This record gives sequence, C-alpha cells and structure tokens, in this order.
Amino acid sequence: MTIPWDEMITAATAVRERAHAPYSRFKVGAAVWCGDGSIAVGCNVENRALPLSICAERTAMASAVAGGSGAPRAVVVVTDADPPATPCGMCREFLREFAADLPILAVNLAGNRREYRLDELLPHAFVLPAESERR
Ligand code: THU
Repeated sequence: MTIPWDEMITAATAVRERAHAPYSRFKVGAAVWCGDGSIAVGCNVENRALPLSICAERTAMASAVAGGSGAPRAVVVVTDADPPATPCGMCREFLREFAADLPILAVNLAGNRREYRLDELLPHAFVLPAESERR
C-alpha cells in the first residue's frame, strides 16, 4: 500500500492547532501511519517546568502504541519553519525503538516538503546489547 501522505499531512496540520506551546510559541503536529493502516496524531505539549514538555512526534508515537495500532510505517511532522523542521534527536531515538528505518516527511505551512529516512537522520543508533554481552 502506498503511504497516505496527503491524509497524514491533513491530520498533522489539524492536530498542530491543538499544540500547547505557550512558552516557545512554536506549534508542531505529527502523524504516524501504522501497521494496521490507521493514523495516530500528536502535538507538542509544553509545561511550565520546561523539561517536562513533550514533542509532537513522541506524543503521536505513544498514541499509536496505546491504540495497539502496530509498528510505525511513516511519519509526518508539520511546523511553520522554513526549511521544514525535522524531528529532534530524542524523537529520532524514540521512533527508532519501533522501527529500524522509516520514511519521515517534514512539511511546513507553505507546503514545502522534504523527505528523509530515520536511518539517515539517526545513523549508528543506540542498540541495547544482549544481556550476555553486558558488563
Ligand atoms: N518540538 C517538537 O514538538 N518536535 C521536535 O522534533 C522538536 C521540537 C517542540 C518542543 C517544544 O514544545 C517546541 O517544539 C520548541 O522547541
């Protein structure tokens, strides 16, 4: 099945409006296309204790897990940045937990798009050694 990019962009653009970003004033929306064909969405949710804030990509991925929707197959992130913003390092590692590689489309409100792969954005990702190899 081909990746439903347009539907994902629409969903991520809509959920971006729900971002809780009073501190950065930078709204982010994300959509994860899942193994069962569904699309999970998320936005950034900030906190006055700033390190407690969570990014849109992790919110969306956590929602996919909670929905029992299967492994992620593609991710869209929508911002008002130019060039379109890519997922932060923490979100890359978080996504890598569920897929060794993924197409990731960064989109902005002007409609500019750039496609990346997770493996390209996060080369040499951390992999937990087998227990027998740990010391
Ligand atoms: N943010 C995301 O939602 N995703 C990213 O990949 C990078 C940054 C959010 C976190 C914070 O709420 C705001 O953007 C500014 O950093």
